[in-house]
Amino acid sequence: MSASGKCSKMRPRFEMLKSMSYQNSIDVTNNEMIQEACERLVLSDQQLRRIMVLMEKSMEQGLSGKKAAVKMLPTYVDAVPNGTEKGDFLALDLGGTNFRVLHIKLEGKETKMTGKIFRVPESIMRGTGEALFDHIADCMAKFMEENNLKDATKLPLGFTFSFPCEQDGLTRGKLVTWTKGFKASGVEGADVVTLLRDACHRRKDIDIDVVALLNDTVGTLMACAFQENTCQIGVIVGTGTNACYMERLDRIPKLAGYVDEHNVTPEEMIINTEWGAFGDDGALSFLRTKWDDAVDRESINPGQHLYEKMISGMYMGECARVVLEDLAKQGLLFGGHSDAISTPHCFPTKFVSEIDSDLLEDDDRTFQKTYQILEDIGVEMITANDCANVAYVCSLISTRAAHLTAAGIAMLLNRINKKHVTVGVDGSVYRFHPTYPTLLDAKIAELIVGDIEYKLMLSEDGSGRGAALVAAVATRLKEEKLAAAATASER
Ligand code: BGC
Repeated sequence: MSASGKCSKMRPRFEMLKSMSYQNSIDVTNNEMIQEACERLVLSDQQLRRIMVLMEKSMEQGLSGKKAAVKMLPTYVDAVPNGTEKGDFLALDLGGTNFRVLHIKLEGKETKMTGKIFRVPESIMRGTGEALFDHIADCMAKFMEENNLKDATKLPLGFTFSFPCEQDGLTRGKLVTWTKGFKASGVEGADVVTLLRDACHRRKDIDIDVVALLNDTVGTLMACAFQENTCQIGVIVGTGTNACYMERLDRIPKLAGYVDEHNVTPEEMIINTEWGAFGDDGALSFLRTKWDDAVDRESINPGQHLYEKMISGMYMGECARVVLEDLAKQGLLFGGHSDAISTPHCFPTKFVSEIDSDLLEDDDRTFQKTYQILEDIGVEMITANDCANVAYVCSLISTRAAHLTAAGIAMLLNRINKKHVTVGVDGSVYRFHPTYPTLLDAKIAELIVGDIEYKLMLSEDGSGRGAALVAAVATRLKEEKLAAAATASER
């Protein structure tokens, strides 16, 4: 596959909307004014290629250790599973509004999992760090009690903590900054494994043995690599977005001279890019819109994670909502009535998905779901033309998100430059949005260069299974290295 070199401005499904408008003798002028007002939401291939160049530059800065928007955090995971991993593991998964505790048995290619999901109430997400980790320990204790694990010998534990962490080893990492609506005090700058251990000690009834701290992208890559050994990239497009990939150590200047605890310099290491923060230094200003500014301004972390705010599930619906509010205020939607659509967060990302499927499935173009959603929000005076235009805006927002992600993935594929590469992908947007995966795939194919062949692979529960795999690989490598050292000393 090679890049097309074309600089096309795609107008997603607008032709279809136009034909619908004619059928229903609807105000096409209005549609054209909306199209014009939304022009900046359509990204050309030329703009996407510029993003690729700027993102790689930011990544190189991150790898060199200089101050950079894209942090490029070493993960200390330097080997992927070889299929022989086995044993019993615990996994903790914190990264969104839910927290999971899992007991995982690995046996060859088989995995058996029992787990429990606990909610993390907003008061805890934004309370004190101590209360957050006490809650985690509490959930763990409940799970261990219910599964008769309390008296079991300490199981190796993989902790998937899906926020940017500055690690200096596999079992330690300081939170750089909270994302995705979390704001618990006293955690930024602290080692999250120590906070977890302290919380367990406070309650005295559980003991843990954390053998790996990892990001959800790393779990995703590992879970896919377990099935498919060409997997080199792990991507999440869910509440937040991020990617990790296998980087050669000689291209990570900030790790120059690094040797592991057995005095070995690995050839490669997984780098957690934290690409969500791309653009925080202004690199995305050339294409951000006044609507992106509005979403950012009202968020809990203004000025931070700007690329993420144009892509991920936490923001996609809100981004569509502020566009719709603006269009209504300009008199281009809902007869100029903007009150109902002006309530912040009244238009979650799942509405974007549902409306986009209306556009796909609805042969007669009656836009029933779209109408229902708008009515439920409280919008009055909804015309068929409004529904078509709301669907148009939603498709622009989701297409832009898919294309921005494609630029990031294509850049990584070009950088890795191997003939066959599998990209493990997970997250609610990738899983549940009706057109996002197809749009993503098609755009990556246009943006890669040379004869790279890639495939996107849905990762099956990277945060859980992946955590057990990282823990298993760490345990296996430790045993192998100890055995090698023992043999060497016998000689
Ligand atoms: C976090 C990443 C995480 C991603 C997906 C982002 O907000 O910074 O660490 O991988 O969300 O969960």
